[in-house]
Amino acid sequence: MTTDNIIRMDMGSVTGIKAHDSDKAILCLGIESSCDETSAAIVDSNRNILSHIIYSQIPEHQKYGGVVPELAARAHILAVDEVIRLTLEKANKTIQDIDVIAATAGPGLIGGVLVGWMAATGIANATNKPLVAVNHLEGHALVPRLCAASASDSTQNINVEFPYLLMLASGGHCQILLVHNVGKYELIGQTLDDSAGEAFDKIAKMLNLGYPGGPIVDKRAKDGNAKRFHFPRPLCDKPGCDFSFSGIKTAARMLLDKTNKDDIDETFINDFCASFQQAVVDCITNRLTNAMKDERVKKAAPKTMVVAGGVAKNSAIRAAMEELAKQSNMLFAAPPMSLCTDNGAMIAWAGLENYRTGNIVTEPVAPRPRWPLTEL
Ligand code: KG4
Ligand code: ZN
Repeated sequence: MTTDNIIRMDMGSVTGIKAHDSDKAILCLGIESSCDETSAAIVDSNRNILSHIIYSQIPEHQKYGGVVPELAARAHILAVDEVIRLTLEKANKTIQDIDVIAATAGPGLIGGVLVGWMAATGIANATNKPLVAVNHLEGHALVPRLCAASASDSTQNINVEFPYLLMLASGGHCQILLVHNVGKYELIGQTLDDSAGEAFDKIAKMLNLGYPGGPIVDKRAKDGNAKRFHFPRPLCDKPGCDFSFSGIKTAARMLLDKTNKDDIDETFINDFCASFQQAVVDCITNRLTNAMKDERVKKAAPKTMVVAGGVAKNSAIRAAMEELAKQSNMLFAAPPMSLCTDNGAMIAWAGLENYRTGNIVTEPVAPRPRWPLTEL
């Protein structure tokens, strides 16, 4: 496999918030392989991303309309060594310069997780370096502490301190969490059926727009009229902080079924996407409003509201959450777009944060397809 095949996206090096310049930086190599991205990054404890390679398999899965686990696992096997080698080369480092090795050990598609985890285990054993088993969701949850900004001003670096209120929305998860510390998460609400990312992907599939659906629906919605169609806002008339998206999906299917095919033109699609996206935005703000009234949240008094996970790329969700945070006298923070969807830098950063708390592997770890944040 040539280098040309491997790098679909070279994130280059990014300088984050230089919080502790005078400290001797600890270097962590992080590896991510839980879904359809094989990625590695070298991140230091001064919050600099020295190098970051993301090999996206999306083109391989696109023709199937979603990720095919067996194909993903095979593609990770083909890519992982080269992705790691390139990550070291771009940072101008050898493996000997690295202090800590970290990799996703779950949750995710187990074939892929195994590939990255075995690569990391092999490197750590061969070099006698500390190894951290990173929970993929913790990677998403902690990356705003590596680098985050507000929605309206992406140049403004925000230092995200514990505790914070987190909206974690990805392809596999949709949860509101209180992040008390590294390894300490309190679940405030979660989806009872689909995740927000899944809902975006399914809507795009219904409209034959392609995969992954989130970015396509987001783009279409920008040119659409969000008031044209009314989609339900499930659970929004109920107390609590849980989500449900399957009702929106069913309403979308029914609307499409009763629409004459000739009427489904570009304007229809844009309006459909905008109306659907507005329903998701309303559910998220409704549930977060309830979360702020929750006794556990009031007691913890988080100063910052944070969004993370692939769906955090959504411009309407970022804007609505920023407005909600402002009304509630809270700061709002979101990772840069490139650190929202799956990436190695978030795993390297979570590896560093866990290493600092002493959470390193001392006995063999079995990767886990399911691994809730509340079980850390
Ligand atoms: O975090 P992620 O990369 O993978 C998981 O851990 O699941 O999230 C992928 C999800 C997909 O469902 C994708 O459609 C969604 O994030 N996504 C978006 C946007 N960009 C990606 N959803 C809404 N708007 C976007 N701009
Ligand atoms: Zn993810």
